[in-house]
Amino acid sequence: MAREEYASLSTLTLAKVASRRLLAAHPDGDLSVICLNIHKSSVSAARALAARLSTLSISERHYWIGTLYTLMLDPHQRRRQAAYFTPPYLAEALIDYAISKGFDLGRHDVLDPAAGGAAFLSLIANRMRRIGLSEVDIAYRLNGIEIDPALARMSESLIEERLGGFADRQMVHVGDALQAVPLASYDLVIANPPYGRLSISEVVGENWAKVAHSGHINKYALFAELCFRVAKPKGLVALVIPSSFRSGPLYEKMRSFVLSQGQILAVGSVSNRKDVFADVAQDVSVLVVRKGGSHKASAKVEFPVFGPSGKADRPAFGKITSNPSSSWWAPSRFADVRGGATIADYGATAKAGYFVWNREQEKMSGGDDPQARPLIWAANIRAGRPCLPATRDGAGIDFVTVLEGSTALVTDHAVVLQRTTNNNQARRLIAASVDPSVVERWGGFVCENHTIVLRGAGRRSMSLLAVLLNTKAVDDRYRAASGTSNISVQLLRQLDLPPPSVFRDALRESRDPEKAAEVAYEKASQTSRVNEVSA
Ligand SMILES: C[S@@+](CC[C@H](N)C(=O)[O-])C[C@H]1O[C@@H](n2cnc3c(N)ncnc32)[C@H](O)[C@@H]1O
Repeated sequence: MAREEYASLSTLTLAKVASRRLLAAHPDGDLSVICLNIHKSSVSAARALAARLSTLSISERHYWIGTLYTLMLDPHQRRRQAAYFTPPYLAEALIDYAISKGFDLGRHDVLDPAAGGAAFLSLIANRMRRIGLSEVDIAYRLNGIEIDPALARMSESLIEERLGGFADRQMVHVGDALQAVPLASYDLVIANPPYGRLSISEVVGENWAKVAHSGHINKYALFAELCFRVAKPKGLVALVIPSSFRSGPLYEKMRSFVLSQGQILAVGSVSNRKDVFADVAQDVSVLVVRKGGSHKASAKVEFPVFGPSGKADRPAFGKITSNPSSSWWAPSRFADVRGGATIADYGATAKAGYFVWNREQEKMSGGDDPQARPLIWAANIRAGRPCLPATRDGAGIDFVTVLEGSTALVTDHAVVLQRTTNNNQARRLIAASVDPSVVERWGGFVCENHTIVLRGAGRRSMSLLAVLLNTKAVDDRYRAASGTSNISVQLLRQLDLPPPSVFRDALRESRDPEKAAEVAYEKASQTSRVNEVSA
């Protein structure tokens, strides 16, 4: 590839090309050393990447060197470690927020128990340096744990670069943080911990039981427990974690634990036009808690939105009750006009699209394979139009080979939504019913990971749901709860809707879905007020 061709690639694509070529050139090399030395590499794509990175800030450069490393990992290992790094804009915004809540760069100790590419520690080192602290002082107050030895070495080097080469103290220790015996307590424990389900046989010790049900243990909940354990009283715990903890019975125990540990200061959303993490669509939130006592239900909790230009102005404030079964979404201005139903009342269940094409390209096939099923991309979804599979350039259909009975295969009535929208789109929720001819012809279909699939048994109620989800009344309620452009599956499951019978009647009367949705919310909330009075 010529130099001009590299120049036309996005940084992520260039990093992917460089990762493949570097792996081919150094099959047995130490990946951390390779990534830290791309500027000296004989691989032209690596040098092109180094040249690109040299135009960026140190933070961006560090982020991309770390990301290059993760792209070179075996994909299964990358997923197992959840090696997806916090972009600098989000790490900076979270550090700013911690500072606004009392984290003192001049005095406080910090731990990141899942240090990765030093997203937080390297930025904090930089800030400490900027306020004039000595390298020794900084090095003795920054602490990390990282399970991947090469990544730990890389982290260490990146922090050392911030400290002008100071290397007298090892800051990032290699190990499994969940099995580490905490040696100290910290003023700030900050982390974007790994996530992913664990079976009960994989967990060690008893601490998991404080934050998880035995049937649903997620690594990030275990890390949350660890973070509170090692934070000082009055210290801050600042986490970037999947949004699933915010609602639903599976995370009730985790919410109950957090409520028992301190004052919840912020439950934030993360907005970005693209995916927050390079290469993976994950719906993430921010949780900041001051350790000590139980959360006071009367205390104000901030529901900020973190975006590329930091924390957005005028965040919403609300309260979090001491009942852990309540959701932790931003307070809604629609609290007085509640429909009282959810997608479940329409018979629908929601899941993120299953197929991650750039991880599983080998499964993409021509349509001749008897097990090939058409793939629905987010770009195929147009509000209110029947959805049909098509390649992204519209020239044909992409197929994916899936086994009969696979959970990836959708064979029922489905409504699909775009999972990431951009800020220029008038609506957050963009929904379409999948044309029944797709299941009739191919026996099912597969959805790409940037979609959300709602599946249900009843064709009429699923079509009704698609109409409802595309109305402004529903969109406004969605936006009131989440300020981000990524659509949360969790929030969609909890989203307040008018009951199907009420919406159907209203639609029959007005024929205008927009009007019908408003009327249905109004009617449903009047009915529930009347029921409350007569009860
Ligand atoms: C989501 S990444 C975040 C890394 C970094 N702190 C950031 O914000 O970009 C999670 C990191 O945790 C590491 N990790 C996974 N399991 C771990 C464990 N049990 N103990 C310590 N680190 C772990 C992974 O290798 C990965 O680097």
